[in-house]
Amino acid sequence: TTPETLPIPEPPGLPLLGHLLDLSSDLGELVELARRTGPIMRMRLPGQSLIVVTGGDLVAELSDQTRFRKNVHQDLEYLRALAGDGLFTAYGDEPNWRKAHDVLLPAFSLGAMRGYHATMLGVARSLTASWDRAAAAGTEVDVAADMTRLTFDTIGLCGFGFDFDSFGAPDPHPFVAALARALEHAQKHSARPPGTGLLFAGADRAFHRDIAYMGEVVDEVVRARRASGDTSTDDLLGRMLHTPDPVTGEPLDDVNIRHQVITFLVAGHETTSGALSFALYHLVKHPEALARARAETDALWGDTDRPDPGHDDVGRLRYLRQVLNESLRLWPTAPAYAVEPLEDTVIGGRHRVSRGETLLVLTPGLHRDPGWGDNVELFDPERFSPERESERPAHLFKPFGSGERACIGRQFALHEAVLVLGLLVHRFRFLDHAHYRLKVKETLTIKPDGFTLRLRRRTAAD
Ligand code: HEM
Repeated sequence: TTPETLPIPEPPGLPLLGHLLDLSSDLGELVELARRTGPIMRMRLPGQSLIVVTGGDLVAELSDQTRFRKNVHQDLEYLRALAGDGLFTAYGDEPNWRKAHDVLLPAFSLGAMRGYHATMLGVARSLTASWDRAAAAGTEVDVAADMTRLTFDTIGLCGFGFDFDSFGAPDPHPFVAALARALEHAQKHSARPPGTGLLFAGADRAFHRDIAYMGEVVDEVVRARRASGDTSTDDLLGRMLHTPDPVTGEPLDDVNIRHQVITFLVAGHETTSGALSFALYHLVKHPEALARARAETDALWGDTDRPDPGHDDVGRLRYLRQVLNESLRLWPTAPAYAVEPLEDTVIGGRHRVSRGETLLVLTPGLHRDPGWGDNVELFDPERFSPERESERPAHLFKPFGSGERACIGRQFALHEAVLVLGLLVHRFRFLDHAHYRLKVKETLTIKPDGFTLRLRRRTAAD
């Protein structure tokens, strides 16, 4: 054999089922399997196979957009029932992707964050008010549930001027519950053993009911804007309704706008909520990092009871940004993205891959590549200090995906998350009353499951 024909290593699998059980097992086990098998491995499912990539050099190669593009793999394909040709689930050659991308990109520039800042701060204050009440009453807070309230209300208000008012209700908004069920269903769907479709008829019907309900929520959001007669607000919805695409001169059509609104409600809150929850988890478990983060906020805001962070303060919370990055390294909340070769090609100098084949970049694996050093499991925000960042090879850190299909909402998520973390560490002491042990809940995204805290307002002496 010439080096070019080396097969891609395959972990041992079962007859018929192949690696179905590995792929449907928990993320930690899959990452561990990849660590044992190597930087690239082939996984077989009944009727198909996919290639899982975790090696930094290979990912650098896969980031070359002249050779690879986003692959809409089985899980995403399934989500098209929900989000159709919205940005996230659109195929590479669907004309509406470019059109919507061009119309929406200005709404995600660094400059655009200035416009969202006051709204983000308003929602963050609903969270701190709710945590003030919990601190006074001595009750515990469910971290992931509250972060979801926050991020959902933030995207609703910033994107569409629509107030879901999640902190005003005892339970999360029903959209959030419907979405969680739908994502879980989509993920389980791809792990169904062959020939068992009928067993899932009830679950499939529930999935379609949830999708129909989410569609109604979206239609209400759009109806409210149209009924207001407002044609000047330049948020996501305003841009979609009124900005002609620079190339075709036409605005987005109504069906596509519906897909985009669903896409943003979904993509705009789940992952950021998980990222905030993991960051708080790490801060609670690493008092030295928490102390440093707190010192950073104290230097900015002193002991003001209700600081009024301006837009530029967020950029000054550099250490908290490092904490968030390190948290996204260990637990990237959208834990994989997939690309496909534009033509049959050879990767890593020796493995043949075919045009259109799914190459799944498993980011928690990539983020533990030896290029990160010896102690990859250690939470160490110093990895993201400016000096260390400049030394690190490119393409080892991909929590937001890669290339032109990378996350359009990245700046939005970072601004929101750093602002909120800053306000929380400045205001509260966190009591890890249950000695929480990390348990990761996986739907298509990941978050800490059952992570609760008790809170105490900081006093000047703290
Ligand atoms: C795409 C992660 C927050 C909107 C992506 C992708 C990743 C990702 C990995 C690429 C998926 C792929 O290649 O298949 C994250 C993480 C976030 C976050 C970790 C928070 C920490 C947001 C927010 C928004 C958003 C706040 C919107 C306000 C989108 C959209 C896409 C996307 C629309 C599809 C882009 C396209 O293909 O044109 N995100 N995201 N995301 N994200 Fe995010």
